[in-house]
Amino acid sequence: MLLTSFLLTVLYAGLSYGVLYDTYTGVPLSEELLEYYEKNGLKETCTVNIQPCDANEWRRVDGSCNNLQEPARATFFSPMARILDAAFSDGYKARKAESGQELPPPREVRLKLLKQTLSSHKLLNNNVPGFAAFVYIDIGSIHDNENLLGQTTYCCEAEHMNDFACTPNIISDDDPVFGPTDIRCMNSTRPLTYQMYQCTKDSVPSPIKKATSPFDLSQIYNAKNEGDKVLRTFKGGELAVEEENGELFPPNGPTAVCPTNVKPNETRCFEHYYGTFIPVTLLTTWFVRHHNFIASNLAKLNPCWDDETTFQTARDINIAFYKQVYFYEFNTALQGRNNLFKAGVITKDNGFRDDYDDTKSPAVTVEFSFMKRLFHLMQESRTMLYDVHGNFIEEFKTFDATFRTGMLANNMPSFTQSMFRAPCHGGDGTVDFELANFALPAFQRAIDALSGDISKNRNFGLAPYVEYIRHFMGYEINSFEDLKTAGLMTDEKIALLKSTYEHVKDVDLMAGGGWCEKNMKGGNIPLTAANIINDNTMRAIQSDRHWYERRDRPHAFTEKQLKEIRKSTLAGLMCAVGDGVSEIPKKAFFNISPKNPLVSCSSKEIKKLNFKAWVDPACKKQKQ
Ligand SMILES: *[C@@H]1O[C@H](CO)[C@@H](O)[C@H](O)[C@H]1NC(C)=O
Ligand SMILES: *[C@@H]1O[C@H](CO)[C@@H](O)[C@H](O)[C@H]1NC(C)=O
Repeated sequence: MLLTSFLLTVLYAGLSYGVLYDTYTGVPLSEELLEYYEKNGLKETCTVNIQPCDANEWRRVDGSCNNLQEPARATFFSPMARILDAAFSDGYKARKAESGQELPPPREVRLKLLKQTLSSHKLLNNNVPGFAAFVYIDIGSIHDNENLLGQTTYCCEAEHMNDFACTPNIISDDDPVFGPTDIRCMNSTRPLTYQMYQCTKDSVPSPIKKATSPFDLSQIYNAKNEGDKVLRTFKGGELAVEEENGELFPPNGPTAVCPTNVKPNETRCFEHYYGTFIPVTLLTTWFVRHHNFIASNLAKLNPCWDDETTFQTARDINIAFYKQVYFYEFNTALQGRNNLFKAGVITKDNGFRDDYDDTKSPAVTVEFSFMKRLFHLMQESRTMLYDVHGNFIEEFKTFDATFRTGMLANNMPSFTQSMFRAPCHGGDGTVDFELANFALPAFQRAIDALSGDISKNRNFGLAPYVEYIRHFMGYEINSFEDLKTAGLMTDEKIALLKSTYEHVKDVDLMAGGGWCEKNMKGGNIPLTAANIINDNTMRAIQSDRHWYERRDRPHAFTEKQLKEIRKSTLAGLMCAVGDGVSEIPKKAFFNISPKNPLVSCSSKEIKKLNFKAWVDPACKKQKQ
């Protein structure tokens, strides 16, 4: 009996090579297609190998088997969906204006619509744009920067400007910043698509996505699609970390790239995670530490658990914690609680909810991934450093630390304080001067991140702004006058748009729905941006089989456990694993104020998860 089952297992293991799926279509690969991919060296990018799904297993780190009918649909490299059909000209170029002319150049649009100045947000702090960027890396990807800085570096050279890969942003002679200089072009590349990789012959360009689709902390558990094996210690369910100056960091490694580390002293460089800009690096470090914080608590309470059980449970709690902070706390800071209830994206009773529908494909939308760029309006180029008691130390140039994980090793406490003690930028229709001209000082003489956003808006083929208004709100906008009637923006902004675009149908989604609309009633972002975010939230709730609020998912939380998860807050995270954090505003996305004062981390106001809810009675039985 034992022997037979042993033989069967071996036999099964021998056969279980998994099934090859096409990443673009998500269907099992035909022999012909496999042959074609193999012949052309495309197998690596255009296919994904998936081991048979088990309906009861934990969420896989590579996103596979989320949908049991379509196991390849949420994986790293699976394509994005679109809310509205793509709008290109000549199949892949930026759409044309109504008049048939080119749309106004991105830099001109940016200069006209956004003043470049210093400004401090009245309500929100640096955790807001920081968390937004961190979430973006979970579901989108940063390969466009890699491409710009690593491979396609020649787009401003005269002989390359018209290359297919290039979409340079031209600077005019009367540019207020660069006019007096010799700079007439900012590097910009066309987004990489499945078409460029030859993974499909579909005619509509589909931007690639180097991340899993669900909100699953893939930036922590599978950032570079290497799986979790390379991240784990296989002891106590923990992730590998290294200590430097008494602080714990994700490990260094030989393939890690930190081009701006100052040698020889700055050596810290993440091997398996992204170390892009400061807030992302901080949040990455905190969530890695938080995994181990959870795992060590679970291991103490459940001495009979093996590494795998502890790891998977800790990961599941870490992901749920992150989702609770993102969907309930962060989104509330942006849209207000009532708006979120009305939109149906958060629950009122805090109990379970199950809207899972296995006919819905887990996919993020191009629009959602793109709209994360709205937070450029809140990004600061000045990092205000404080000691752990809140005494101001000095101002640091934020962008000098981009791709420079090394400098954090000695400075975690002061950068951590900068996140909640200083306001983020704007909220007033302005943009940070450095971000809008010199966003990558170590690499590029000129980069306007916001011009880049308009250019990406067009290169992604997003439909005109007015079509999103029609889709979400039902208004027909045929003239600038109609915009007035819709009540979405002030007369001043409508006049600005009118002086920038010939026709209201020319207006780019980001320009209208991101930069010019007033904030929604009761919230801190425009309604169109909120609609795009909420559309994606609904998709996630309905299409993620492992959604943490489901009662019936594999290894689902008990009622008691879900109650603990509801206590998750950013303040709780920073108190648990932030360097030198002993006090923090309870609402950690908001500025310190009389209504949101600093409170001690040890006080009851900072809620802590009680891991006793995860005590496994089996361990007690074993002991007796
Ligand atoms: C950098 O390292 C060198 C050699 O270890 C040391 O002498 C120097 O003080 C360090 N500089 C800083 C700024 O830490
Ligand atoms: C464009 O990229 C090239 C290569 O990285 C760089 O030398 C050049 O300075 C960049 N242009 C500007 C205006 O930054």
